[in-house]
Amino acid sequence: MNLKDLYINYFISKGHKQIPSAPVVPENDPSVLFNTAGMQPLIPYLMGKPHPYGTRLCDYQKCIRTNDLESIGDKTHHTFFEMLGNWSLGDYFKEESIGFSFEFLTKVLNIPINKLAVTVFMGDEDIPRDDVSANAWMKLGIPKERIAFLGKEDNFWIAGESGPCGGDTEIFYFRSNDEIPEKFDPTDDRWVEIWNNVFMEFFKDTDGKVTVLPKKNVDTGMGLERVVAVLEGVDDNYKASIWSNIIKTIEEISNKKYLGNEKSMRIIADHIRTAVFISADKSGIKPSNTDQGYILRRLIRRAIRHAKKLDIDISSDWEELIALAIISQYEEYYEEIKENKDIVLEVLRNEKNKFNRTLEKGLKEFEKIISNLDNNKLNKDLAFKLYDTYGFPIELTVELASEKGIIVDTEGFKEKFKAHQELSRAGSTGKFKGGLATNGDMEVKYHTTTHLLNAALKQVINKDVHQKGSNITSERMRFDFSCDHKLSEEEIRKAEELVNIWIKEEIPVTMTEMNKEEAIASGAECMFIEKYPDIVSVYTIGNVSKELCGGPHVSNTKELGTFKIVKEEASSAGVRRIKAVLN
Ligand code: ALA
Repeated sequence: MNLKDLYINYFISKGHKQIPSAPVVPENDPSVLFNTAGMQPLIPYLMGKPHPYGTRLCDYQKCIRTNDLESIGDKTHHTFFEMLGNWSLGDYFKEESIGFSFEFLTKVLNIPINKLAVTVFMGDEDIPRDDVSANAWMKLGIPKERIAFLGKEDNFWIAGESGPCGGDTEIFYFRSNDEIPEKFDPTDDRWVEIWNNVFMEFFKDTDGKVTVLPKKNVDTGMGLERVVAVLEGVDDNYKASIWSNIIKTIEEISNKKYLGNEKSMRIIADHIRTAVFISADKSGIKPSNTDQGYILRRLIRRAIRHAKKLDIDISSDWEELIALAIISQYEEYYEEIKENKDIVLEVLRNEKNKFNRTLEKGLKEFEKIISNLDNNKLNKDLAFKLYDTYGFPIELTVELASEKGIIVDTEGFKEKFKAHQELSRAGSTGKFKGGLATNGDMEVKYHTTTHLLNAALKQVINKDVHQKGSNITSERMRFDFSCDHKLSEEEIRKAEELVNIWIKEEIPVTMTEMNKEEAIASGAECMFIEKYPDIVSVYTIGNVSKELCGGPHVSNTKELGTFKIVKEEASSAGVRRIKAVLN
């Protein structure tokens, strides 16, 4: 039986309910592109909401981490991985959780106690040292010398900057055949972390304020790929059984051995596997130039480039053969992989065909560019040309360049990219924001007014009101928003009044640039998240409104005059339309 099944069966035998893996794209959390840990879909329940399956849960969760994509190609990194986890939602706490982990490792997996060591939170000025966990480990037979107390950096866990969090205890396994040192040194890399048990009893808000959660929870996570490799005694994760069929397929297609071609084969295996899971996801992501779609595009294009490096005939059906090997391995565990098999193959094929058209020419252009360089720097214009004309994601250009010892001006590229996006955004604004065909004074005033009206409707109707579209001329504004009923006279009057109050209050309108995830986390309103670049401008009108927006806007609400709603009508199902003027 494999580790996934052993794990789930063990925790079911301890009264846990297995919950299905959530989609890789979070369903209700626009602050992250992908689920990066098993606990992510469970945040509301860790915060206190009752879970329909009870207080003891376990699962294997699909996770995707894209923060160190460049590291893929080494022995240990993966973009996609599965995380095994068990949770207590206000049920058991430290001692029992440690007891389960210990029993699973030593009785189910038969790991000798002598190969195990643990770290425990040493405490800080606010939280005491975790002697409860240390004592629990000792009671089970872990010697004192194998317990290291570490600080917040190592033994306190939070997903990102805010959310449920707490001290943790991490379990390490001695990976080498060397004699095992009596004293555990967590910096000795023969000790590998295999499991993390987090005791989530706190909540950190976006201002950094820490409060106590209504219940004490346990959140554990075990990275499947790493643990399988460790237990199988291989020093390269890609040599473990999880990968053997996929690597074998790549060897056959390329007619080359893994040995000597490790980097390209690992990249192809990892990237195609991740692309399979993203394109099978119920979110329906397709390759594009923003957000998850851009990650998907980058992964596929980088895999194609490495296939070319291995002399694979890239117009053959190589990607399909690899994808099928991956699908047959996972379809038993993930329904969507089975159901969306055809979609997955189509996404891969289409993106391959698209990129194949320009890859060859782009590579020639790249060779030409570098043979004409008079130093080892590739400037932003050339990087942009490779992106714009040949479809080379900037990261691909950076990788190609670094293989030749050349540095790319990525900062310059980003500026150029942004300017380009803003241009095309201004061109397409009518489609989704403002409808600013011309940026005359009146249009700008109406544009700022849409933000005020949006905020007013949220106050008068409810905060789930969102902008669905708008259209502006120099004469009037039209504003569409989600709402399930015809507005009453009273609601219309109140919304109008609020906007006029804010105009009278002479509130300054300010703009700041920030990264998109930060903007969303700060509560900024936005219509179509996928349409925005990574760095966005956020327009703030005092305490009244905060929206992601390309502008332009007036600098103070006092410039707007008097606001009047002239009509309220249905626009489409669940969407109402307001026409209004400024006098
Ligand atoms: N959420 C914890 C982690 O990802 C268990 O390490």
